[in-house]
Amino acid sequence: MKKSNRQLAGKNRYNLFNAIALTGIGILFSVTVIGQPVKDVKKISSDLFGLFFEDINYSADGGLYAELVQNRSFEYNPTERSEWNPFSYWEYISPGFSYGRVSVETSAPLHPNNPHYLVLDVEHVGKEVKFVGNSGVGLKNSGFDGMVVKTNDQYNFSMFVRQLSKDPISFTVSLQTPKGEVIAESKITTSSNDWNKYTSSLIPTQSCDTASLVILATTEGKFAIDMASLFPEKTFKNRPNGLRADLAQLLSDMKPRFIRFPGGCLVHGDGLGNMYRWENTIGPIEQRKEQRNIWGYHQTAGLGYFEYFQFCEDIGAKPLPVLPAAVSCQNSGGTWRIGGTGQKAVPISEMQDYIQEVLDLIEWANGPTTSTWGAKRAAAGHPDPFNLQYVGIGNEDKITPEFEERFAMISKAVKEKHPEITIVGTAGPFHSGEDFEKGWKIANDLNIPVVDEHYYTDPKWFISNQYRYDKYDRTKGEVYLGEYASWGNKMRNAISEAAYMTALERNGDVVRMASYAPLLAKKNFTQWKTDMIFFDNVTTCPTPNYYVQKMFTANQGDYYFDKVITKDEKDNSLASSCVQDSKTGDVILKLVNYNETTKPMKINLGKFGKIATEGEQTVLAGSPDAENTFANTKNIVPTSSVVKIKKSFDYSSPAMSLTVIRIKTK
Ligand code: AHR
Repeated sequence: MKKSNRQLAGKNRYNLFNAIALTGIGILFSVTVIGQPVKDVKKISSDLFGLFFEDINYSADGGLYAELVQNRSFEYNPTERSEWNPFSYWEYISPGFSYGRVSVETSAPLHPNNPHYLVLDVEHVGKEVKFVGNSGVGLKNSGFDGMVVKTNDQYNFSMFVRQLSKDPISFTVSLQTPKGEVIAESKITTSSNDWNKYTSSLIPTQSCDTASLVILATTEGKFAIDMASLFPEKTFKNRPNGLRADLAQLLSDMKPRFIRFPGGCLVHGDGLGNMYRWENTIGPIEQRKEQRNIWGYHQTAGLGYFEYFQFCEDIGAKPLPVLPAAVSCQNSGGTWRIGGTGQKAVPISEMQDYIQEVLDLIEWANGPTTSTWGAKRAAAGHPDPFNLQYVGIGNEDKITPEFEERFAMISKAVKEKHPEITIVGTAGPFHSGEDFEKGWKIANDLNIPVVDEHYYTDPKWFISNQYRYDKYDRTKGEVYLGEYASWGNKMRNAISEAAYMTALERNGDVVRMASYAPLLAKKNFTQWKTDMIFFDNVTTCPTPNYYVQKMFTANQGDYYFDKVITKDEKDNSLASSCVQDSKTGDVILKLVNYNETTKPMKINLGKFGKIATEGEQTVLAGSPDAENTFANTKNIVPTSSVVKIKKSFDYSSPAMSLTVIRIKTK
C-alpha cells in the first residue's frame, strides 16, 4: 500500500539518502551533509496552498468570465430576481423613425437547454433624409454596467439567427459610446431559415469603458435571435470563450498548486433543482444549461468545467472539483433564518444515476478519447487527459443520516472504480461543533484520505489557534482547509492569516491543502464582505490578504525545517516557518510580526550546506488598519529587494508584517 507523506516523514528526521529515495531530488542538498542526519525536518504536502473559485460576488459572469454581453441567451428570469425577465439588460431600439415588434418565444429554440429567444419583426425601416445614421430595428446591450473596449483591440461578435421571412436580413453590428458615437462597426447578412451562427469582428477606433453593443436589422423582415455574444480576442492566453486577462493574470501570478471549483454553497445549491451538475456546463455554450445562482443572480455556465480545467492547466494548478454529496444546501429556501433545516436529498432510487454522474466526471477528465466522456473532452479540443487527482464530495453539508448514507455510497463507488483518485470529504461550516465532529467521524470511519474544513472568524482567533493542527492525530485523514478568512481586508486581518499560514506549513504533514475564500468580488455586486481581490470593469484591487496569499502560494516548499528561526516563543504574535523546495533547492523563510512594533528574530541556516550569499526578500508591512481601496489600490503592496545572507543573521521584523526570504542553495 502507498504510504502517505506523514508515514514517510517517520520520526521527523531524514538524511540525504532518504531524501533522494523519497523524492528523487538527487544532489539538491549540499554535499557537505551527505550521509549526515539532518534533524528537525519533515516532508510536507507539495499541494499546500491553492485557490478556491466560486461564482459569488459576480466572480464569473460579469467577472472572470470575459463575456461582455449580459443575458446573452435571454434566459434571465424572475426566479433569480423578481424584476428580471428574458429581456432584462436588453433595450429595443428603432432609430431613423423605424418601427417593428419584439417578442420572447420558446416554440423552436436553438437547443432545449436554452429555451428562450427573441423574435423581431422589422415592419418598417425609416428612410427619412433628415436622419443621420443607421435606420432599422434592433437591440442594444450595455453588458455589466457598460462594456470596456480598447482602441485597436479585436472583439469577436457572434449571434445565432433564424430567418423567419423569405429574404435575407442585413444587420449592422456596432459598438457605441453612451452618446451614441459608433466606435466600431461590422455587417452581417443572414443566409438560412434554420438557426445559424453568424460572426464578425469589431475593432474600436477609440477606447471606452462604458460602451454598448448594438445589433440593428437594417432590412425589413422577421427573424429569431439567440446567444448574442461579444468577447475580447485578448482573453487570458487568448483562449476562445476565455477569461478576463487582468484578473486571470493576478491568479496565475500566485502560482497556486490547485484550484477548488465551483463552490461553496453554489455546488450543493438552493434545493435539489439548483445543484451544480457538471455535465450541464460542458460542450458548446449555446447548449449549456443555465441556472439561478444561489447568490442571487444568473449563471450562464459559460465558465464551466472545461474552462475551469483549461485554466488550471494553463497556470499549472491541479483541479479540485467539488461535487454535491447528493444533498442540497441546508439553508435551501432561506432556512438559514430558522436554523438551516432545508437540506433535501436525492431519492435513493436515483442514486445510481447520480453516482454515475460523479464517475463520468472522472472519465471526462482522465479517460481515453475512445471512452464516452473522454471523447467529449477531445471534441472540446483537449484530447490529452487533464490528470485529475482530487475529487471533493460535498460542501460543508449538514451531517444528517441522509447525507451520511449518500456520501458513503458515492465515496465507495469512486474508491472502487477509481482507487487512484483522492477523495476529499467535508466537515461542516465551522471549526468545531456538531457537524465538524460528525463529518470527521464519518470520514475517518470510511477512510476518507482528506477532509475539508471551513471557518471564517476573527483575526484574534487565528493568532490564538496557531497550534490547532499540531495536535491533530497523524494516523487519521489529512486536512483540506478549503475555506478560511479572518473577517476583514485590513493589514491586521492579512497578517493574522499569515501567522496562521506558517502554522499550516509547520503542519504540512497533516494539512494537505488550504485555500482562502472567497476569491473575487465585484464592486457594488458583493454578497460576501471579506474577499481576496476586488474588481470593477476596469480596475483590480487586490487586498493585503491577496498579497499574503501570493507570498505563500508562490513560495511553497515540500520539506519543513524546524529550529531555523528563533524568536520570543512566549509571544504568539510572532510566527515563522522555514521550508525547502526540492525542485529548485531554494530555502524559504517566512517571518510574521503581528505586533505594532518591530521585533527581533534570529536565523540560523547551519543545517543547510552551501547557501547563496544573497537572497530575495519580499516584505509586506503597514499599519493594522491599512487597506487597499479603489481610490488607492496600491496603498499596501509588497516590496522586494536583494539582501545579503549569512549562515546566521539577525532580522528586525517590521511592525505588522510578513517577510519572505528566498535563498538559493545551488
Ligand atoms: O465562501 C463563501 C461561502 O462560505 C461558501 O459558498 C460556503 O461554502 C461558505 O459558507
